[in-house]
Amino acid sequence: MRVQLQIFLGTLLLAVTGVILVVVGFTEEERMARFERYQKAQAIEVGAALFEINCRGCHGLRGEGIPGLAPPLNDAYFFTERLNEVGWQGSLEDYIIATVSTGRQVSTRPDRYPGAGTPAMPTWSDRFGGPLRDDQIEAIAAFILNWETTAVNGVELATLPAPAQESDDPVARGQAVFEANGCVGCHTIEGVSSGTVGPNLTKIGETAAERVDGLTAEEYLRESILTPSAYVVEGYDDLMPKNFGDTIPADDLADLLAFLLAQK
Ligand code: HEC
Ligand code: HEC
Repeated sequence: MRVQLQIFLGTLLLAVTGVILVVVGFTEEERMARFERYQKAQAIEVGAALFEINCRGCHGLRGEGIPGLAPPLNDAYFFTERLNEVGWQGSLEDYIIATVSTGRQVSTRPDRYPGAGTPAMPTWSDRFGGPLRDDQIEAIAAFILNWETTAVNGVELATLPAPAQESDDPVARGQAVFEANGCVGCHTIEGVSSGTVGPNLTKIGETAAERVDGLTAEEYLRESILTPSAYVVEGYDDLMPKNFGDTIPADDLADLLAFLLAQK
């Protein structure tokens, strides 16, 4: 009798443990799925912030590209045709990670997207001397891949709000011009951008007056933007785009100069 009871209790215990394991297992699976979704959302958010700091200057805030500088990363062409064009066998995610990690020495479309000279796109992975870790580059890739639905279904992307455009303050408007024309991709201004292809402009309002004998700060800045080859800052190559005179309207240029002169 006693032995039978022990067997019964033992079996019961085993059954209860089994049930508990199954229940925990199910919720665990659900928990993991939820965790994965959460992680993915987080990666996209991190990627968005990194993209804004590092990539926006050349590829645009929403990856729409900047004509004459760098290609769109948010259009149907990029998601459906591009891999065939370059003959890439792997996935788009791998292509993005590989291209971003190593950068690109020369553009494959130099007539349309020449980039910043040589290299056309800087190296980003810290494994090759760039500023970003692998997990950060993976987060940026997740952010870019997140554009696929809108790109492939051809949904019109909402046009960017231009809050500073309404501003009465030329300096605030000038910052918007600085951001919209790709200056941020190559120049650092503390609190605004972190490009490193060209000189840091955080104090350019002061240094501009000392650059070229006979030119005031404003004259020098105007020349730097409209005819960048006239004076090339020591230690840098002549990589400024040469067509800002055609692409930046006179009003915007005036605001841009006000913004740069205020950097002290
Ligand atoms: C200085 C300008 C510049 C910056 C900054 C820049 N890129 Fe690029 N990027 C380019 C150019 C130029 C190309 C080459 C286009 C080509 O080969 O046709 C390119 C190519 C790419 C490609 C491949 C596109 C394709 O169609 O093959 C990806 C993906 C990419 N960049 C992502 C990024 C990301 C992510 C960042 C930020 C971490 C970044 N880029 C920053 C200029 C830039
Ligand atoms: C593709 C990279 C690139 C872009 C985009 C770019 N610049 Fe430059 N910029 C440079 C480089 C490199 C230099 C240094 C060589 C030279 O003096 O031309 C430079 C120099 C300058 C200078 C002179 C700085 C000094 O210390 O004397 C100013 C001012 C300037 N850029 C403003 C701008 C503005 C404003 C924009 C956007 C309208 C812009 N840049 C866009 C690369 C760039």
